[in-house]
Amino acid sequence: MMPRFGVDPLALIQSQISTASEDFSRNRAAFGALMDELHRRRGEHESSGEKAKQRHMAAGKLLPRDRIDVLLDPGSPFMELGDLAGVDMYDGVPPGAGIITGIGQVKGVSCMIIANDAPVKGGTYFAMTAKKHVRAQKIAWQHRLPNITLVDSGGANLPEQPGIFPDSGQYGSVFNQIVRQSAEGIPQIAVVHGACTAGGAYVPALCDLAVIVREQGYMHLGGPELTYAATGEEVDRETLGGALMHSETSGVTDYLVENDRHAMATVRNLVGDTCRRPSLERPVRAPKPPRYDPAEIHGLIPEDPRHPADTREILARLLDDSYFDEFKGRYGDSLLCGFAYIGGFQVGILANAGVIFSESAKKAVHFIDICCKQDIPLLFLADNSGFMVGREAEHGGISKDGAKMITAMASANVPKYNIIIGKSYGAGYMAMCARPFEPTFSFGWPNGRAALMGPEQAAMTLAMVQRQKFARDGLPWTEADEEKFKQPIRDDFEAFASMYNYAANLWIDNILDPAETREVMTLLLDVAARAPAQASPFGVLRI
Ligand code: COA
Repeated sequence: MMPRFGVDPLALIQSQISTASEDFSRNRAAFGALMDELHRRRGEHESSGEKAKQRHMAAGKLLPRDRIDVLLDPGSPFMELGDLAGVDMYDGVPPGAGIITGIGQVKGVSCMIIANDAPVKGGTYFAMTAKKHVRAQKIAWQHRLPNITLVDSGGANLPEQPGIFPDSGQYGSVFNQIVRQSAEGIPQIAVVHGACTAGGAYVPALCDLAVIVREQGYMHLGGPELTYAATGEEVDRETLGGALMHSETSGVTDYLVENDRHAMATVRNLVGDTCRRPSLERPVRAPKPPRYDPAEIHGLIPEDPRHPADTREILARLLDDSYFDEFKGRYGDSLLCGFAYIGGFQVGILANAGVIFSESAKKAVHFIDICCKQDIPLLFLADNSGFMVGREAEHGGISKDGAKMITAMASANVPKYNIIIGKSYGAGYMAMCARPFEPTFSFGWPNGRAALMGPEQAAMTLAMVQRQKFARDGLPWTEADEEKFKQPIRDDFEAFASMYNYAANLWIDNILDPAETREVMTLLLDVAARAPAQASPFGVLRI
C-alpha cells in the first residue's frame, strides 16, 4: 500500500531557473500578450448586445449573470465552463453561445448552474448552445450535482436545425439527460424567467421542480402567433402560458414568485430542502501553496512554440508545497509520473517532457494502474509532439506500448483531467487523455496547440503526396510551386491548433491562465471527491 501522506524532503522540487534572466523576462512578456487576448475574449460578452440588454432590464428582469450572482452563496466562486464556446461562429453572438454554465455553491451544495442568456438572440439554441448545455449536464451527472436551470429561451434557433435537432448530443439530449438524471435522484430545478417556447418550455416541464415569475415567465409549446397560424385561435400570451395560469390551472409549475430575486431566493430554499451536500469520499490534507509563485509559469513558457517548456519547473509552481514524489524517475524520463497534491487533494501526475517513447508509455501503464487501485485522480499535462517514430522505435514495439498506455488511460475510471500546456499532437493528444477519451475535464493554456501533426509536418506530408502525383503524371513541380502549395496548409494547421478553436468547438472546457490552474483544479477535485468511486477493469494489455 502506498504511503498516502507524509512529505519526503527529497520529493520537493528545487527550481533551477532565474526569474531575473533575460529569457524569463522575454517569455513573460510574450505570454502577457496571450493573457491580454484571453482577458479580452472572456470579456467580450460584457460589451456586446447593449440594446438587447437594456430592453431586458427595462422589463424589470435581472441579466442572466446577475441572476446567478443572487443565486449563489455570497462570496463563493462561480467556476464558469465553456465561456468561449462558439467564439466567432455566429453573427452577433458573443463568446459563450448564448448560455452560461458553471459550478457554483447554493446553501453550501455544489450545483451545476445553466442559464439561458436571453439578450443573445432570445436565448435560442445554436449548435454550440445545445452542445454546451449537454456538456454541463454530463458534468453534473458524473459528479451527481443538482442541476439548476434558469430558463429564458425561445427554444430552437430555427436556421440551426441540422446542428440542434436530429442527433444525439444536440438539443434533444438536454431533455433525455434531465430525465435520466432525475431517475438517478439527481435534483433538477428550473426557473421560468421569460417567454419559454417549445424546447424552452419542455426544459422546465421535465424538471423535478419548476418556479415561474409572475407577468414575466411564460411557457408554451407555440406562442400566440404560432397558435393563431396553426389553429386560428386568438389568445394573448398571459392566457396561453402565463405564470398564474400555469400555477393555478395547468399545474405545470410548482412555485409562483414575484420577480427574479424572489425566484432565486425560492431556489435557494428548494436546494436547502431537497439537496444534500455529499461528504468527501477521498481524503484531503491541509492545502499548501507551491514554494514558487504559480504566476511565474508565464515566464517558463518559451516565446517560440517550437521549444518545449521545462515541465519540472512548471510542476514546482502547480503542486502543493512543490512536492512531487516522482515514480520511476530514472526510467522513461520523457514522461514525468508522480504523486502530488493540489489544494490538499491527491493527484497522480503524468506530464510530458518530450516525445513519448516505449519506456515512457510502459511507465504510464504501471503508474495509472497504481492510481486506479488506490482511487487517485489522474492529471495529464500534455506537451508532446507525439510518439517516437523510426526503425528503432518500431522494432522496440512502440505501437504495442503506445496501445498499452492508451488502454490503461482509457480504462481508468478515476477522475481524469487533461490540460494542454504546450503541444499536443497526433496519438500523443489521444494518449494524454484528450476529449475523445472523455476525461472528467479538459482544458488548455493560451499557448496550447493541438492537431493531427504540426503545421510544418502537415505541409511536408501533403507536399510529398502532391509531388509524387505530379511526377506520376509527368507534370512539372518546382520548388516555388511547392512553397506556394505548403503555405496555406501551414496557416490552416496553425489556426486549427489554436486553443480558441478548441474552446469554440467545446473540445476543451475552457482556456485557463496557468496561474489560475491550481484554483480550478482544487474546486474540481473537491466536487469529484464527493462522487462515489468506481472500479477500473483494464482492457487487455499487450505484453
Ligand atoms: N430562431 C431564430 N432566431 C430567433 C428565434 C428563433 N426561434 N427567436 C428569436 N430569434 C432572434 C430574433 O430574430 C432576434 O434576432 P436579432 O437580434 O438579429 O434581431 C433575436 O433572436 C431576439 O428576438 P426578439 O424577438 O427581438 O427578442 P424578444 O426578447 O422580444 O423575444 C423570444 C424573444 C424568444 C420570446 C421571441 O423572439 C420568440 O417568441 N421567438 C420565437 C420562438 C419560437 O417560436 N421558437 C420555436 C422553436 S421550435
